[in-house]
Parts: sequence; structure tokens; C-alpha cells
Amino acid sequence: MSVSYALQNDLGVITIDNPPVNALSHAVRSGIRDAIREAQADASTAVVIVCEGRTFVAGAQIKEFGKPPKDPWLPELLDEVEASEKPVIAAIHGTALGGGFELALASHYRIAQSDAKVGFPEVKLGLLPGAGGTQRAPRLAGVGTSLELITNGNPIDVGTANTAGLVDEIVDGDLQQAAFDFARRIVAEGAHCRKTSELPAPEADPGLCADYRKRLAQRARGQIAPQKIVDCVEAAAALPFPEGMQFEREAFMECMASPQSAGMRHMFFAEREAGKVKGLSKDTPRREVRSVGVIGGGTMGSGIAMNFATAGWPVKLLEVNDDALGRGLEIIARNYAGGVKRGKMTEEQAIETRNRIQGTTDYESLADVDLVIEAVFEDLNLKQDIFAQLDDVCKPGCILATNTSYQDVDKIASATGRPEDVIGLHFFSPAHIMKLLEVVRAGKTADDVLATCMDIAKKIRKVPVVSGVCYGFIGNRMLQHYGREANLCLIEGATPVSIDTAMEQWGMAMGPIRVFDLAGIDVGYKARQGLPVDERGDPKAYRIADAFVEMGRLGQKSGAGFYTYDPETRKQNFDEASLAVIEREAAAMGVERREIDAGEIVDRLIYALINEGFRIVEEGIAQRPSDIDVVYVYGYGFPAHRGGPMHYADAVGLKEVLARVSEFRERFGDENWTPAPLLEKLAKEGASLADWARDN
Ligand code: 3HC
Ligand code: NAI
Repeated sequence: MSVSYALQNDLGVITIDNPPVNALSHAVRSGIRDAIREAQADASTAVVIVCEGRTFVAGAQIKEFGKPPKDPWLPELLDEVEASEKPVIAAIHGTALGGGFELALASHYRIAQSDAKVGFPEVKLGLLPGAGGTQRAPRLAGVGTSLELITNGNPIDVGTANTAGLVDEIVDGDLQQAAFDFARRIVAEGAHCRKTSELPAPEADPGLCADYRKRLAQRARGQIAPQKIVDCVEAAAALPFPEGMQFEREAFMECMASPQSAGMRHMFFAEREAGKVKGLSKDTPRREVRSVGVIGGGTMGSGIAMNFATAGWPVKLLEVNDDALGRGLEIIARNYAGGVKRGKMTEEQAIETRNRIQGTTDYESLADVDLVIEAVFEDLNLKQDIFAQLDDVCKPGCILATNTSYQDVDKIASATGRPEDVIGLHFFSPAHIMKLLEVVRAGKTADDVLATCMDIAKKIRKVPVVSGVCYGFIGNRMLQHYGREANLCLIEGATPVSIDTAMEQWGMAMGPIRVFDLAGIDVGYKARQGLPVDERGDPKAYRIADAFVEMGRLGQKSGAGFYTYDPETRKQNFDEASLAVIEREAAAMGVERREIDAGEIVDRLIYALINEGFRIVEEGIAQRPSDIDVVYVYGYGFPAHRGGPMHYADAVGLKEVLARVSEFRERFGDENWTPAPLLEKLAKEGASLADWARDN
């Protein structure tokens, strides 16, 4: 039984026990309804709702979304809870989220453990609170607080919720006993059933709502739910409660039926699935990691060191010499100072955290660490030399990781006498901010090394995705195809502005040409220079970039790349001179430029990505298609509301994807557009990737 009811002396106690997070499944909803009804008829004077396990109700059962709804619906159930003739008290521990918090708001009183949190994460699922949250919260906390809470989706601590009027009492110690005492006290005081729905409507604030609409149009570009949340909160101020509820219901149903919510719900489960390694038992032993070494304190190493220091680990940062070390430590100090400025930590915390990172230029000082992450230049020989040295100095059992972007982790491992201890930990830039971590399982990586690294990733608040060994692993391998098409569109007739605008309007966080400029176009240039000409790929896909680099335009860092950047404001411009370079290079390659519309730009870039994604799935480089979605949403700014590239392919329909890829093959040739065999197979069978993933 997921819900039980007992009359305990003078109190009715509803206990919800639906692990892991007490989600409001159909059985839980029915159980609460039956219990509330029973309480009306028995000798109880008040009703207390408590939850077993690690948390109060964390929301609706997301797996039931998209299926035919079953009675009782949550809004009706909550109306019944609120209509109780005996005071109902919600006793909150852990997290009261979404429908769980709505259950608490429909209760007459809310008492919470001091470390509990409450909030409305629905917006992260492309939804809005659909059981009165947008109507009850503003009546308790006002329009401003509710707008912030519901549109950003992040939970708040109960202290803040208490100040805002959303929680009545905070307790330390035994929550259940405190809730019983609270119930008895209010009964003794003759307190009535305080119905949130009967509170006066909040004061309207059209200016603030307009401001939110504008900000959300930027922050959550293209998303429906955030805008609808503003509509609903506005309706709370303008409409009587029942009509406000009706308004919310319609908005909720519209969001629920949208492909955006389907994409974001897919991402919720994809992220959790990605943390599970196929074939690795839960009981795989873990290695103890108490200290960490990072080699190379450049762009990546400094950020990697910060992740560990912030999470409490002592870190040794090793550089080639004191100058380089000083630069690395300086980057770290600057980043922490930035955190203080933005209010993320206090000055004291910043100093304490920074002090966990100790600089060194001596390999011997890595003798005691339990995990080393190498982040030096992208050069196989150099990395192999370093791993050979690590093999000499590091203690047995130390995990040896590389942050390489492209090098073969098996070859790096072969430089040691203990390849089973070697793994890839591929962070994304900026490493202290980006959530994604590709965990590269090399041929001989031991299970306990992999399991330990998956755990550590979560401890440093990353989303880990396992990748097999191949050039570029999952993310960068696919990105090459996306980048190639961006460059080809450019030479064939598009401009940086038309490409970036098309991709950003479609939902990418940043257009590809802007990304090239940000990352520095000299990086690819140098890599190409190291290859014989016939291994550099189609010159049409890099001639323009090379021309800019050869003019000294390396990207943002040199003040100009594909775009130019104002030295004072860093404002980005695209000028006639840049266009002239593009046109000159096109002419030199014999390309006649033509108009390319946004639809073609988006389809070429996204389908190139997807086609390679199918190969990666088929080769087993990714464990499952949804892992690729996690890589792209968390590592490459792919819009979560499209569910990642592989979910997007399913949403479009594989037949249609294949048709478009085949059309591009006819127009642009076999080399870039031969459909991946798995795409072809599934499209012909009328199957989806999700179907395939279930069986594989
Ligand atoms: N429905 C179904 N399953 C859920 C769930 C939910 N609401 N919330 C969590 N789970 C599952 C996860 O999928 C995971 O399953 P797994 O072990 O099989 O992978 C398991 O519960 C544990 O979840 P986490 O790994 O996320 O555990 P954490 O301890 O890290 O976090 C949590 C717990 C903070 C509760 C987090 O799970 C969370 O944020 N959950 C989502 C809450 C949410 O979005 N609620 C709103 C739902 S929409 C709604 O309520 C609509 C309403 O307004 C009508
Ligand atoms: P970087 O050039 O900013 O830093 C490399 C650092 O390594 C320099 O500070 C250098 O002094 C140091 N170094 C060189 N040889 C050393 C040695 N023998 N011992 C100790 N330190 C040494 O390079 P970046 O960008 O940080 O890249 C490092 C690695 O991370 C590369 O393998 C790269 O492919 C990978 N990577 C880079 C990303 C990026 O966006 N920059 C993203 C993900 C991975």
C-alpha cells in the first residue's frame, strides 16, 4: 500500500510511502482521496500528511504523463483535500516539489524540517504547475515571488519559503512529533481550516509580468511553458479562483501535449539513465579517492582543479614551470573572486576553497594522490611521456585519467604498465561550469575504475556519460559533421549571420560560427597544418577559416575572426570586409554562391549530426541513443526542449529523416551524406530509435 491512514488518538495520519520519491502515481492519488474521506468520518480532530523515505512528495509521477489520465486527477484531489472540514497539516521533509508542493499548498498548514526545500520544477519538464500551484502560490506569496519561483524551477530552502508566506513553521528534530504538536495546538486554539483558495487574489503587477515575458523570451528562447506560467500567475490576480484554475488547467494541458514537454521529459529520464553503466553491477567495488592531482593548469586543468576543490578535495596542480603554474593559479583565483562577486560564495569560502589547490612542478608530489587527471597540450607523444612518468611515481591503485579531446585513450594507457587504471575524463570548457563529463572507457579500463569515476562525476556535480574510444568520442566526433556543414553552407552562399541566426532561432544556445570564433579558429587550423593535405578533408569546408587565420583573425581572442569584435564593448559585428573574404575564397574554389534559406541550414547541420549519431549508437560507442542527447544538451547547447538530436530524430520520424538525408546525398554526394545503416534499417522498418533502444 503506497498510502495508509490511521487514527492515532485524536489525529488522522496519512502516510505516503511510494519509493523512491513518493511521486503522485494513480495509486497514491487514490490512496490520499480515500484517506481524506475516511478522516472526515472518524473521530480525528485534524489530519497530518507525512511521507516515508527520503522525501516528501517530489511531484507527479512523470512516467504517467502522456498516458490517458485516470481519476482522481490531481487538481480535483487537491480541491477535496482543501475542502476537508478538519484542518490538514502537511509535514515536509526532503523536497516538496511540483505536485507535492501543490499538495502542501492545498493543505491548510505547512510545517517543514529546517533542511527541506520546496519548489516548482515543472518548467524544466516543459510544463507548469497543473494542480493549482500558479493560483495558490501567488495568493500566499504574491505575484513577484511566485513568478520567480515558478519560472526558474529551482527549489528554495524552507527559510526563504517561510519568509515568503509559503511555509508556516520550521522545525529541527522530530518532524512527525512537531507536526502532531502543531496540529493539536491549532485545534486547541480553535483555528479553522485555512483555505488558500479563499485568500484574496494577489495584487496584479502588469509591469513585472511584461518584464518577465521579455526576459524569458531571451532566457528560455522558443519555450512555451515559461510564457504560459506568466499568463497563469497574471490570471491568479485577475480571475476568481475557480476560473484561474480552469485557465491553469488549459495551459497545463497545452504544455503537456507539446513536443517541447515530451523532449524535456525525455531529457529528465535520459540524464538519470546515462549514469547507469550497462553490464556493471551496482555492487562493483569503488576505489577510495581522497586526493586529486591535475597535470596542466591551462584553460582546462585550472577549471578541472576547481571542480574538485569546490567539492572539498585537496588538489595538487602540476605545471611545467613556476611561470606556467603562476598563470594557472591566477586563473583559479580570478574565477573564485568572480564567484564571490556574483554572490555564489563568501570571501572566506573562496579563500578556503582556493587553498585546497596546491601548486607543484614536481611529479614526485603526485606519489600519494588517488586520482590524476592529465590536461596538457593535445599531443599524443607528450601525453604518453606523462603517463609513463605517472606509472613510475603514482601509488598502486591510483586512477590515471586523461582529458584528451581526440587522442586514443588505449594508446595513452599503453604507455603505462597498468592500463586497467587508465580512463578518459573529458571535461567541457569552461570546465568548472559545464555540466557534461564524457567518461571514456578504454579497452582495458577496470570496472571499479569506471564505477568510481561515475560516482565522482556526480560528487563534482557533473552529468557523466560513458563513451567508447573513437576519434572525438561521442560529442566532438558528431560535432565535426555539424561544423563541416556550417562551413559548407558558408562557402556556398550563407553568411555567418544567416547561419548563426538560423541555428539560434531553432534553439541552439549559440550559433556555430560564433562558437568557432569563441573557441579560436586557429585551433583547427593548427591541427590541419599537422596533417598531409589529402587528410584534411574537403577544402571547401575549411578554406574560409584558414584565410581568416592567415590574416591574423583567430577569433574573439584576436579581436576578429569570422566576425569582428569591438575592443571596448566586445560587441560582435559582421562587415563588408569579412564578406569579401568569404566571397573571394568561394570564387577561388570555383563555388557559385546562392541564397540558402534557414530551413536548409538547420536541416543540413542537424541531420549531419544525427546521421553520425546513428553510427555512434550502432558501433556501441554510446551505450544508448539517449546518452547522445545528454551529451548534446549538457555539452553543446542543444535545446533541451527538442530532447537532444536522437530524440529529435524520433520526433520528426525516421522515415522523414532518411528522406532528407537521401535528398542531401543526391545533391551533395555520398561522402558526407551516405545514410547510417541503422537509420536506413529503422526507417524502412517503420521503427523508432526509442523502440530499438528498448530491445538492445
Ligand atoms: N516521477 C517519476 N520518477 C521520478 C520522479 C517523478 N516525479 N522524480 C524522481 N523520479 C525517479 C528518478 O527517475 C530516479 O529513478 P531511477 O532511480 O530509476 O533512475 C529516482 O526517482 C531518483 O531520482 P534522482 O536520481 O533524481 O534522485 P535525487 O535524490 O538526486 O533527486 C529529486 C531527488 C530532487 C526528487 C529529483 O528526482 C527531482 O527533482 N525529481 C523531479 C521532480 C519534479 O520534476 N517534479 C515535478 C513533476 S511535474 C508535476 O508535479 C506536475 C504537477 O504540477 C501537476
Ligand atoms: P592549454 O594550452 O590551455 O593548457 C595546457 C597546459 O598544459 C599549459 O598550461 C601547459 O603549460 C601545460 N603543460 C604542457 N606540458 C606539460 C607537462 N609536461 N607537464 C605539466 N604541464 C604541462 O590547453 P587546454 O585547452 O587546457 O587543453 C588541455 C587538454 O584538454 C587537451 O588535451 C585538450 O584537447 C583538452 N580539452 C580542451 C578543451 C578546450 O575547450 N580547451 C575542451 C576539452 C578538452
